Amino acid sequence: MKVYIATLPNGFFGSTGQSWKSLDVYRLADLLNYETEIVTINDLMNIDFKKTDTVVYTSSDEKHIRFYLQDIMHFISKKCQILPNFDILMCHENKGFQELMRTELGFGNLPGNYFYDIDDSILSIPKVLKTVDGAGSSGVFLVKEKNDLRDIKQQHFVTCKKSRRMQLQRRVKSENNKFSIYNYRHKGFNRFVEQNFIPNLTYDFKILVFGDRYYSLKRNIREGDFRASGSNLFEHVKPSDEVLDYAKNIFTQMNNPYASLDIAQSTDGCHLIEFQGTNFSPGTLLKAPSRYLQVDGKWIKEENDKDLEANYAHALNLYIRNNEAVSTSTPVPFNMVTRAECSKVM
Ligand SMILES: Nc1ncnc2c1ncn2[C@@H]1O[C@H](COP(=O)(O)OP(=O)(O)O)[C@@H](O)[C@H]1O
Ligand SMILES: [Mg+2]
Repeated sequence: MKVYIATLPNGFFGSTGQSWKSLDVYRLADLLNYETEIVTINDLMNIDFKKTDTVVYTSSDEKHIRFYLQDIMHFISKKCQILPNFDILMCHENKGFQELMRTELGFGNLPGNYFYDIDDSILSIPKVLKTVDGAGSSGVFLVKEKNDLRDIKQQHFVTCKKSRRMQLQRRVKSENNKFSIYNYRHKGFNRFVEQNFIPNLTYDFKILVFGDRYYSLKRNIREGDFRASGSNLFEHVKPSDEVLDYAKNIFTQMNNPYASLDIAQSTDGCHLIEFQGTNFSPGTLLKAPSRYLQVDGKWIKEENDKDLEANYAHALNLYIRNNEAVSTSTPVPFNMVTRAECSKVM
């Protein structure tokens, strides 16, 4: 078996958190316990993969690169293991796909809905509306009353002037039912998700997971806002065991070597606000003084070496080893939680 590390054609592999700086894939390859070859995403369709091979690849926040990658990885995923898995790639910069995945897997403890027509939104007010590709709290809105919904409709669900003019001309020329079909097509769509509003939060947690290592950042909410991400009011404190258990449970179900999870804790328990499994910012790992591991059911604190490539390698080695163990039916290693165990925690 061989591990292929697929960079962009310019050698870039994310994410270091800085768009101009790549992860050191040569160091990553050195740290992996497997025979490794560095290739680019443009090479992948021409490689003769074995079923036991693994492709570790980067996504991109540039949408044309990402959509191209989605097309390629759809086919590569049929030939060998790909990391991140295909669903996680689809979740990158797409809160809509995240919403579908949480519905499919039944995790997150936060009722939500994905739509492209604002008239198809179903949750009652108050609720949170989000553009599918926002970040740092931009594109995240609290809808407290009907007027808020009307404002979002006017700003985000509009057609261009040309379309409106053509609509008017059609209305004059067309029969009624033909016009209504035309009218729907040009109504003004956008991809949004809506979620139940979790009230009275004063902070949330960003939890980064690399294999069995959990890194945490407590993000306080600014006065007069409801959003924690981007507030810059950050602290590195140990989350409650409940938050760490919850993070572990979600992480196991994501079935990926690494993840970034936004978790809020309310009187109703923990809620998953959003998640990523590729190209997420590693800031929490690079700054937190400690990390947390579960040993014999207890969360223990360990010093953080703040070494990004070493953590990616650790997570990949663990994931590939665990997967080999599953596919050859050898006993499950100490740090692997099965889906059956996992559903007990939910
Ligand atoms: N359903 C919700 N209920 C309450 N607060 C929320 C909800 N969803 C998001 N938030 C707040 O808004 C912030 C940004 O939302 P998030 O979905 O993580 O988008 P971003 O990509 O901007 O980080 C979160 O950190 C959280 O504080
Ligand atoms: Mg977030």
